[in-house]
Amino acid sequence: MSIPRLSLLILFLIVSLSHTVSAEQGMAIDPATCLGCHSDRFSIKEFAASVHGKNACTSCHTDITDLIRHMKGEIKVQKVQCERCHKRENAEHYASVHIAKGVRCADCHTDVHSHTYWRKDKRIVVAMCIQCHDKEAVYRKSVHGKAVVAGNSDSAACHDCHNLHDIKPVGGKDDHASREFHTKVCLKCHSDAEMMKRNKVFNVAVKTYMESYHGKNYRLGFPERVAGCSDCHTAHSVLPRNDPASSINSANVIKTCSKCHAGATASFTKFYAHGEPTDRHNYPILFYTFVSMTALLVSVFAVFWLHTLFWMFRGFVENRHKKHMHL
Ligand code: HEC
Ligand code: HEC
Ligand code: HEC
Ligand code: HEC
Ligand code: HEC
Ligand code: HEC
Ligand code: HEC
Ligand code: HEC
Ligand code: HEC
Repeated sequence: MSIPRLSLLILFLIVSLSHTVSAEQGMAIDPATCLGCHSDRFSIKEFAASVHGKNACTSCHTDITDLIRHMKGEIKVQKVQCERCHKRENAEHYASVHIAKGVRCADCHTDVHSHTYWRKDKRIVVAMCIQCHDKEAVYRKSVHGKAVVAGNSDSAACHDCHNLHDIKPVGGKDDHASREFHTKVCLKCHSDAEMMKRNKVFNVAVKTYMESYHGKNYRLGFPERVAGCSDCHTAHSVLPRNDPASSINSANVIKTCSKCHAGATASFTKFYAHGEPTDRHNYPILFYTFVSMTALLVSVFAVFWLHTLFWMFRGFVENRHKKHMHL
């Protein structure tokens, strides 16, 4: 036994004899006893105020049932099994991409001894995910990232698109599920007219997308054949169109379309991804084209029906005339 352990043991025996008795009987050990030696890691106050403050230390560190043996270093302390109490999160985590990559509960929840309720604060999630996914830190500069930092709880954080625990692999570039994902994640919020209105966001994006060539294919079940929302807007660097760095800004939109439409030109990009023909203010060309095409259609049909009507009338008159002749 090493010297520090020995002195700790002596100190411990002097300070709390009663605890040794309960330990020897294999009973739960008072957290204060454990903290008598482990307060260098975290304070009694912090632990008591944490979500696990009412748990005994041994409810997680189940294998430490005998303090004497623990202090002698005879017990090999096992990794904590969170699943004993958190069945739902555990089931989700075990269906996720992280489990396959060896990421455990405590790798994300590093503050388990002092953890307080997160109260759906999206900023905490972002900070946690970015610890490992530093490549995705570009998200912080996106319209969603900036709004989350500003405290807008409507805006999208990592888990709004990827889930909190049931996080799926994003997959290959071309398979059905991952191509569908590029659009599905945006619909949740952008088809919520009420939410878009209170955030002053262009609120027919989904409706107009669904009416476009790309959206029709998405609806027919072929998302892999066309562009989804995040193909044009990106996934993590979404920005409003007036931002020069935006993938849909007039300076970049040709590049965005030409990812798939080789040789796209400025005039090609005039195809309105979200054309709303009844919106004269935002889409004047589309509006007037729509109005004149509609007018043309209506007048052609009017002439056609009128013509048919006269024709019928004339046929009727002629038939009657013929009948009279035969009589
Ligand atoms: C008399 C002092 C003392 C008491 C009381 C004590 N421990 Fe320890 N504990 C130690 C020492 C010494 C070590 C090994 C050195 C280290 O890693 O800090 C240790 C290590 C640990 C470890 C890390 C083991 C590892 O391999 O990483 C855990 C977990 C732990 N103790 C939990 C507890 C719990 C829970 C209690 C109360 C049930 C408790 N300890 C009570 C002294 C003590
Ligand atoms: C909610 C479960 C839980 C509770 C309750 C809990 N711990 Fe831990 N503890 C952990 C986890 C998780 C680890 C990290 C090691 C691992 O992954 O198993 C850990 C690690 C430790 C370590 C190793 C040193 C370190 O910080 O990595 C010590 C010492 C320790 N705990 C002491 C305690 C003491 C003392 C208490 C009671 C005051 C306590 N724990 C309560 C889950 C818990
Ligand atoms: C012995 C049972 C037990 C074990 C084991 C346990 N927990 Fe907990 N955990 C609880 C209880 C009880 C609460 C408080 C629940 C409540 O107030 O609704 C809690 C709350 C939490 C919360 C906060 C929930 C919230 O609503 O914000 C997190 C996060 C958490 N635990 C993570 C962990 C992790 C990670 C582990 C494994 C290292 C773990 N727990 C192991 C019992 C346990
Ligand atoms: C990839 C990272 C990650 C992993 C792995 C992970 N969690 Fe979480 N978990 C989070 C985040 C982020 C939150 C929300 C913020 C917070 O509570 O700090 C959270 C929240 C929770 C909550 C509160 C849930 C709620 O709806 O309020 C519980 C309980 C929890 N986790 C338990 C677990 C358990 C048990 C495991 C392992 C089976 C686990 N977590 C694995 C990231 C993770
Ligand atoms: C608005 C929805 C949305 C948000 C918010 C979001 N993601 Fe993503 N994420 C996606 C989409 C869509 C893809 C697929 C992108 C692709 O294949 O090009 C993706 C891909 C990924 C990938 C796979 C690697 C890659 O870049 O293709 C990782 C890892 C990832 N996201 C982590 C994160 C993290 C961490 C956060 C938070 C900082 C986050 N995501 C926020 C939608 C989102
Ligand atoms: C402890 C480190 C760690 C944390 C924290 C973490 N991840 Fe991961 N994540 C990984 C590893 C490792 C992989 C697998 C390797 C890879 O693809 O980057 C992964 C993979 C992923 C993938 C699949 C990427 C793909 O290409 O298919 C997504 C999506 C993802 N994580 C999202 C998140 C989200 C969202 C959070 C926050 C809730 C988070 N991660 C927190 C380590 C972590
Ligand atoms: C969790 C809800 C949510 C999800 C999921 C989401 N968004 Fe958003 N989005 C918002 C909110 C809220 C705003 C307004 C943010 C602000 O305050 O600036 C916004 C803003 C935008 C803007 C800027 C609009 C403007 O007028 O400035 C674009 C473009 C955008 N989102 C596209 C997307 C795309 C593409 C996806 C999917 C990859 C997506 N969003 C997923 C909620 C969401
Ligand atoms: C083919 C590429 C493409 C696709 C697919 C696409 N968009 Fe867009 N989006 C654009 C372009 C380009 C603009 C700029 C305005 C315009 O030209 O109509 C835009 C504008 C927007 C705006 C307004 C931004 C601003 O700053 O005013 C929002 C919000 C938006 N799109 C959301 C979505 C959502 C949600 C989806 C999926 C349902 C989607 N977009 C699919 C290309 C696309
Ligand atoms: C992720 C790939 C992808 C992106 C990005 C993309 N498209 Fe498409 N788009 C397609 C595919 C695939 C088709 C169907 C095949 C075809 O006709 O080329 C299509 C069809 C079209 C069509 C109707 C068919 C035709 O060729 O006339 C138009 C118009 C169109 N896209 C415009 C755009 C514009 C404008 C942008 C940029 C704002 C854009 N697309 C971005 C993949 C994409």
